[in-house]
Amino acid sequence: MSIQARKILVTCALPYANGPIHIGHMLEHIQADIWVRYQRMRGHEVWFISSDDAHGTAVMLRAKNLGISEKQLIKNTQKEHTIDFMNFNISYDNYHNTHSVENLFLIRKIFFSLCNKKLLNKKKIVQFYDNQEKIFLPDRFVKGTCPVCYAKNQYGDTCEVCSSIYEPIDLINSISVISGTPPILKETEHLYFDLPSFSDMLNKWIYSGILEKTVINKTEEWLKLGLKKWCISRDAPYFGFKIPNFLNKYFYVWLDAPIGYISSFKNLCLKNKNINFNEFWDKNAKSELYHFIGKDIIYFHTLFWPAILESSDFRKPSGIFVHGYLTMNGLKLSKSRNFLITASDWLKYFDSDSLRYYYASKLTNNINDIEMNLDDFMYKINNDIVNKLANLASRSASFIHKYFNGYLSDKLDDYNLYQSFVDTTKKIENFFENREFSLIIKSSMKLLDVANQYINEKKPWTIQKKVEKNNDLHMICTMGINLFRVIMIFLKPILPTLSKKTELFLISNLIWNDIHKPLLSHKITDFPRLYERISSDKILQLFKLFK
Ligand code: MSP
Ligand code: ZN
Repeated sequence: MSIQARKILVTCALPYANGPIHIGHMLEHIQADIWVRYQRMRGHEVWFISSDDAHGTAVMLRAKNLGISEKQLIKNTQKEHTIDFMNFNISYDNYHNTHSVENLFLIRKIFFSLCNKKLLNKKKIVQFYDNQEKIFLPDRFVKGTCPVCYAKNQYGDTCEVCSSIYEPIDLINSISVISGTPPILKETEHLYFDLPSFSDMLNKWIYSGILEKTVINKTEEWLKLGLKKWCISRDAPYFGFKIPNFLNKYFYVWLDAPIGYISSFKNLCLKNKNINFNEFWDKNAKSELYHFIGKDIIYFHTLFWPAILESSDFRKPSGIFVHGYLTMNGLKLSKSRNFLITASDWLKYFDSDSLRYYYASKLTNNINDIEMNLDDFMYKINNDIVNKLANLASRSASFIHKYFNGYLSDKLDDYNLYQSFVDTTKKIENFFENREFSLIIKSSMKLLDVANQYINEKKPWTIQKKVEKNNDLHMICTMGINLFRVIMIFLKPILPTLSKKTELFLISNLIWNDIHKPLLSHKITDFPRLYERISSDKILQLFKLFK
């Protein structure tokens, strides 16, 4: 049955260019990659892109600390990030950075569109200023005592203890994070975007089937509070794009970051002339656009971003897929808390498929946090992949080689059982489409239990002694290999490395539309080691990273 090919553009949030990719980031890239690989297997046209988020005060200060230019820093970081994604088999078609000519071109175009529509105006305000370092301080670079609950050491925008939101100047005993001196108040002029004029549009748009219920609820809360004008400029010194005709002012990093979705795609179009840019970004584009993001940046994607797109005549997203945080012992992994496992550290101890599998086994389509428990991780990999999945193939393959020259039989032992596996396909397809990955793992493990149970009951190891039953042995083992193959087709988007090995072993590619056609009278290779067991040793070594 052929289906209409969809045209889909998928993005992940742009990681900041001031630090390494950690396994918290990786949750998002793996989630999106599984979805993308599935859609590609179904024959759809999918473009998968992201980019480094190169601008802002944090990048500027990091470069200064390292004694290199910002350009050098973002070049190095983009290279490292690209290697990390490659090592985890994240199948990006393009990975760019926002300090690019494409992004500069687009932000100017969007800026002039906002000017023409009279959506920008200037306003004088007073702001914290570090008089020693001669720099205006972003909210995150001011710390002090919370004005509501009096908790010490809180950021300038929100209190992590009582969750209050306030202005930096409300903090008690505030201090500049950069120099450690108390900041002074200084007058400055900024550019504001008229977000409130989009309230009606947003109030309709969030109900148009693009958001999950919990994400709608969050967005509703902000809309009910009433939208405020959004400050889109920053004072020098800053690392970013200069605002035309506004001396020493730069565009705020959060204005040009999402524009990075468009500019990374534009950059891809320049390299691949077969892609039509307008088909994906034109106001009336029929193609689909999905953003995968974490729950900390909902605000930017459900309010600011659609308003900017609307006002500059670009299409709006078809869906925003939000995930929760990766936590360990209930704490969010994060750079600022110095509590993280980097992607490259992970690979010193474990392989990439193991993390992809573990995340898939926990991922749903809601914003609940995902707790990483390394004992649970070890159990799942050893029990599911080694004991159940690889073992099903290995116990069948050994006979195929020993007695049948590596050839599968021309018939299956039990067509009904095979058909019952094929019949789960629709259910698995729905789970993939709706990003219910944990249910795919659950269903696959149920099927594996059935398959292993089948082998246990048929006891091929006893038949081999009875030469006259040889044909049964052949069909039973062929059955085992074919059930394994169906499950591997289901798991292919999740386990790309294991899938490659399986394809070499079966001398046949794992193809979605071939699920109903069993492999018969077909040569397979010697059984390779498909997967290595994880030892508790490795877990202990990884834990030492935190000490
Ligand atoms: N640069 C912005 C995004 C701009 S998008 C136009 C940013 N960068 S980030 O590096 O802080 O985060 C990138 C993505 O990783 C976000 O979607 C964020 O939610 C996600 N994660 C960062 N830490 C995470 C966890 N511990 N767990 C899950 N996802 C996390 O925000
Ligand atoms: Zn507080």
